[in-house]
Amino acid sequence: METMKRTVTCGELRADRAGQTVVLNGWVHRKRDHGGITFINLRDRYGITQVVVDTKTDAGIAALAAAPDLDAVAAELRNEYCIAVEGVVRLRPEEMANPSMPTGAIEALASKIVILNRSEPLPFQIDEKINAGEDLRLTYRYLDMRSESMQRRIKLRSDVAFAAREFMINQGFYEIETPTFIKPTPEGARDYLVPSRLYAGKFYALPQSPQLYKQMLMAGGFDKYFQIARCYRDEDARGDRQPEFTQIDIEMSFVSRDDVLSITERLMGHVFMRTLNIALPERFKRLTWKEAQENYGSDKPDLRFGMELRDFAPYVEAGGFQAFKDALAQGGGVKALVVCGGAGYSRKRIEELEAHAKIYKAKGVAWMKVAGGAALEGGAALEGGVAKFFAANAGDIITELGASVGDLILIIADAKRKIANTALGAVRAKLGKELRLADPRAFEFVWIVDFPLFEFNEEENHWEAAHHLFSHPKEQCHDMLESDPGAVLGDLYDLVLNGYELASGSIRVHDPELQKRIFSVAGIPPEEAERKFGFLTNAFKYGAPPHGGIAPGLDRLVMLMAGETSIKEVIAFPKNSFAASPMDDCPSEVEQKQLDELHLVVRTS
Ligand code: AMO
Repeated sequence: METMKRTVTCGELRADRAGQTVVLNGWVHRKRDHGGITFINLRDRYGITQVVVDTKTDAGIAALAAAPDLDAVAAELRNEYCIAVEGVVRLRPEEMANPSMPTGAIEALASKIVILNRSEPLPFQIDEKINAGEDLRLTYRYLDMRSESMQRRIKLRSDVAFAAREFMINQGFYEIETPTFIKPTPEGARDYLVPSRLYAGKFYALPQSPQLYKQMLMAGGFDKYFQIARCYRDEDARGDRQPEFTQIDIEMSFVSRDDVLSITERLMGHVFMRTLNIALPERFKRLTWKEAQENYGSDKPDLRFGMELRDFAPYVEAGGFQAFKDALAQGGGVKALVVCGGAGYSRKRIEELEAHAKIYKAKGVAWMKVAGGAALEGGAALEGGVAKFFAANAGDIITELGASVGDLILIIADAKRKIANTALGAVRAKLGKELRLADPRAFEFVWIVDFPLFEFNEEENHWEAAHHLFSHPKEQCHDMLESDPGAVLGDLYDLVLNGYELASGSIRVHDPELQKRIFSVAGIPPEEAERKFGFLTNAFKYGAPPHGGIAPGLDRLVMLMAGETSIKEVIAFPKNSFAASPMDDCPSEVEQKQLDELHLVVRTS
C-alpha cells in the first residue's frame, strides 16, 4: 500500500500533466468494457478521472509485463470498489476528449491496480438521480453522501460555517461554547431531557438554544459573543425542521436593534460573497409585522414575486354581498388577491384553492373573473362567482386592484381579520409555487420588524410570549403591558429569505422589574419565574448591560443557498421524519442496568 498512496486526486489532472506517472486512489464510479479495453471512471471527493486498462496496445503490453495480473484485477472490479491505480497520464484522442469533465482532456493508462476494499452489490446507485426512498438513503447515508451533489452540499456547509466564523471573529466577536446539559431554556418546543445518575429524579435539558446563557455572557462582560451552536427541540418534523440543528448564535451589549440588523446583513453579505460569489444588497428590505400580514398574509413572505393581498373593504358597502358585510360588521376583514391569467381556471381548480384556504380556517373563497371583449367596447367587466354583486363598481375594482382582462380575483372575508389575511396568504404562497412565480436563483431577504410581544393562546386562555419571554417591549408600549397586552409591540425581528424564517432575535429585557411584569402578563407566577429563571433575573441585579441578539439557522441558510427544500439535504446525518436515524437505529432501547443507574422505570403502555 505504501507505494500506492495517491500522488494526485481524481479531480486535478489536466493536459499539462501528460507523460507523468501518477497514483490515484478512489472508488470505481463506472466501468465499461470496450472489446478488451476497460474504462474505469475513478472518483474521489475532488472529481473523476478516466482510467484505461489496455493490455492490447504497445503501451498496455509494456504495462502488463510490470503487473501480470492487471487484466484479472480489472475484470474483478465492480462499482464502489475502493482501489489504487498507478498509471501514466496521456492525452485522450481528440474525438474522445470530454469538455464537460474538468479532467476530460486526459486519461490515466493503468500499469498497476490494487484493490483496497471490495464492495457488495449496492442498495442504490451512487449518482445524481437517486431513486431510493428517504429511509433507504438514510440507512446507507455513507453511500448516499458519496454522490456529487451531497459532497457539494456538505462542502458548502463547511464553507458557510467557516465564512461565518471568519466574519464574526474579524468583527471582534469571541466564539464561546455554552453547555449542552442545562436547565430548560424556553423556546416554545418540548425539551429533550437527560436523566441524572447522581441526582435521582432530576434531569438536565438539552438546550433549545443557548438563549439564557448568551444573556449571562452579556452580564459577564463579553459584549460580542457568537457560537455555531447545536440546538435540540422535540417538535413535529417539517422540511425545514430537525430535532437537532445548528444556529449561528449571536449576542451583543450596548446595541440598538439596528446594530443587530446591520451586523447580520454584513454577515450574510460576507457569507454569500465568500461561498457563492454573490453580492447581496448592503441593506435588506424591511416590513413591519403588520405590513407583512396585510400585504402577504404571512410573517415570512416570499418576496421573489409580488401578488400582494389587497383590501376589498372599500367596495363591500356598495355591493350587496351579505357575507362580506357581516365580516366587516364584526370587526373583521375582506381581502382580495388578483391571480394573473387565472380567468381560465376551472371551478375544480378554484375549489382546490378554497380547500387550501380552509386549512387556514377560512370559511370559503369568493371569486370573480375579469372579462373583456368587443361587447364591452374595449373595457373590462367582472363575471362569474360574486361578480353580480359588484357590477356597479366593477371599473373601480378592476383598476384599483390592478387587475386586467383574463385575471381571477379571489376574496376571503372573515370576522377575524387575521384569518382573512393568513388564509389568502396561504393561497398566494400555493399559487406562487404552482405557477413558479419565484426565480429559483434569486435570494430575497426581508426583515420583519415590530412583532407583537404577546400572542393569545386560545386553547389555554392566556397571553404568552410571541418570541420568548426575554424580549424587550418597545419603549412606547411599556405603559400598556398590563392593560392591553395584545397591542404591545416588541423590539423583535425576523430575517426572512425566500419565504423561510432564517433568523429570529430581539433586544432583551435587562431590567429585573420589567422582566417581572412580563412574566406576570404571561401568567407565570413569581415562584415559578424564580424557580425557572431566577438565575437570570439575579444576574441582572448586578449591573447587567442592555443587550440584544439574533440567531440565524445554519441548516436553513445552507439549504436555501444550495437551492434545496429540505434541511436533511445539507446535514450529514439527519434524522428522518419520525425523529429517528435508520442507519444506527437510534433512538434505541437501553440495558436494564443503565435504567436502574438512572433511577428510571419504563412504562410500555
Ligand atoms: P428561534 O427559536 O426563532 O430563536 O430560532 C432561530 C432560528 O433557528 C432555526 N431553527 C431551526 N432550524 C432547524 N430545525 C429546527 N427545529 C429549528 N428551530 C429553529 C431557524 C430560526 O429562525 N434564542 C432565539 C434567538 C434569539 O432570540 O437570539 C431562538 O432560538 O432558522
